[in-house]
Amino acid sequence: MLISIILAAGEGTRMKSKFPKCAHKVCKKALVNHVIDSAFLAGIEKNIVVLGHKASLVENEIKNKENIVIVEQPIGEGAPYGTGFAVKQAENDFQDDDTVIVLCGDTPLIRPETIKELLKYHEANDFDITVLTSEVDNPKGYGRILRDDEGKVIGIVEEKDANSNQKTIKEVNSGIYSFRGQILKEVLGKIDNNNSQGEYYITDAVEIVNKDNGKVGGFKTIDSGEIQGINSKVQLAEAEKVLRKRVNQKAMEEGAIIIDPDNTYISEEAVIGRDSIIYPNVSIEGKTIIGEDCIIGNNSIIRDSNIGDKVEILNSTIVESEVGNNTKIGPYAYLRPNSRLGENVKIGDFVEVKNSKIGDGTKASHLAYIGDATVGKSVNIGCGAVFVNYDGVNKHKVEVGDNVFVGCNSNLVSPLKVSSNSYIAAGSTITEEVKENSLAIARARQVEKEGWLLKKGFKKDK
Ligand code: UD1
Ligand code: CA
Repeated sequence: MLISIILAAGEGTRMKSKFPKCAHKVCKKALVNHVIDSAFLAGIEKNIVVLGHKASLVENEIKNKENIVIVEQPIGEGAPYGTGFAVKQAENDFQDDDTVIVLCGDTPLIRPETIKELLKYHEANDFDITVLTSEVDNPKGYGRILRDDEGKVIGIVEEKDANSNQKTIKEVNSGIYSFRGQILKEVLGKIDNNNSQGEYYITDAVEIVNKDNGKVGGFKTIDSGEIQGINSKVQLAEAEKVLRKRVNQKAMEEGAIIIDPDNTYISEEAVIGRDSIIYPNVSIEGKTIIGEDCIIGNNSIIRDSNIGDKVEILNSTIVESEVGNNTKIGPYAYLRPNSRLGENVKIGDFVEVKNSKIGDGTKASHLAYIGDATVGKSVNIGCGAVFVNYDGVNKHKVEVGDNVFVGCNSNLVSPLKVSSNSYIAAGSTITEEVKENSLAIARARQVEKEGWLLKKGFKKDK
């Protein structure tokens, strides 16, 4: 069986945070979840996640993941510590004939393809342990890979234990290894804490296996960005940048036009259709799907939504909603969850829609609130119209048929039915059903007091 052990028990002291390191997020996804997702895509059948420091906060992040086994590392004053001790917590959850990939929960940029390549190399050469390495310009903080004259990996030395010569080595340990299950079990019984930090290092495995005449491999990956570990908030921001670049590049390769990729935030799960143009400072979050030939204007936020083709969204926020083809939204519109707009709809500036279905060709061009409503086709919702959906205790629904004209500044007090082909006069507060083909006016009549200004002495001298 192919198994991973994902280490996520550390505090991450260098993060200077009240949250455990692996619960921190890159591109809105917890570090540990990036690693779990990569492992899954690499074909790993079971992920053993080691939790410890503030375990419940990390557990909360991974609760929806499949094929996970959680083991807890005891944490606290006097408890043993280190990556070697962390891996040991999983020793009863794999068998001798399993292949075990050890991954760090703080290395979120690792690609599934690279895990697969590591595995292939490991198996093709029949190694007992294979270390994933890379050359980096600035190796500070990483364990350095020690090779003999023939290039064989003979050890890994941590920054804190390295002499000045070893510190110049640029090939570093990614913290990712492939093990033969049986060898890993043997090694875990032999790791000690005889080092400058008094920790149990999994990196000692290399030396131990070599001493036992086992076979150690080093698989060097070209893209050092992938093995970037996160120990500080500076590195968190660096990883965000690498991942953003990667995601945006993929979106462009698949046909999206991104005006300023450095300032565009697209989730890994989002899909953007061909020739859709994404302007700067846009966030496309979660499982959003955007069709073809759309214009997504500056500062828009679109989360977990489904957007059709030829849609124009300007400076607006759309959450958990659906938008039909050729619809125009914004600037400054807000679609809250479960808004479903048809085709050729217009939701203009300062219009808020919530939990409502809006038919094809309907327009709410400015300053309106549409909540808990079903609105038909070709309806005109005037400026300042409010769907009064809340009585202070309960929410009620408004149903508006097709071809209705809702005059400016009217209130539609729910529960309410406005039939098709009807007309609501501006300034009306509508509380009763409006019938087909009728005009509803619900406002005080205008009173004209002739000569009132003169009587009051307000007349101005010319
Ligand atoms: C580790 C490696 C180093 C490598 C680097 C790559 C060791 C001794 N060093 O160093 O060679 O270059 O990763 O990023 O392994 N963890 C636990 N329990 C513990 C300690 C750590 O689960 O008791 C987890 C942490 O949450 C983290 C991972 O293990 O996800 C790595 O630990 P960290 O302390 O960040 O190791 P590094 O110093 O970065
Ligand atoms: Ca680390």
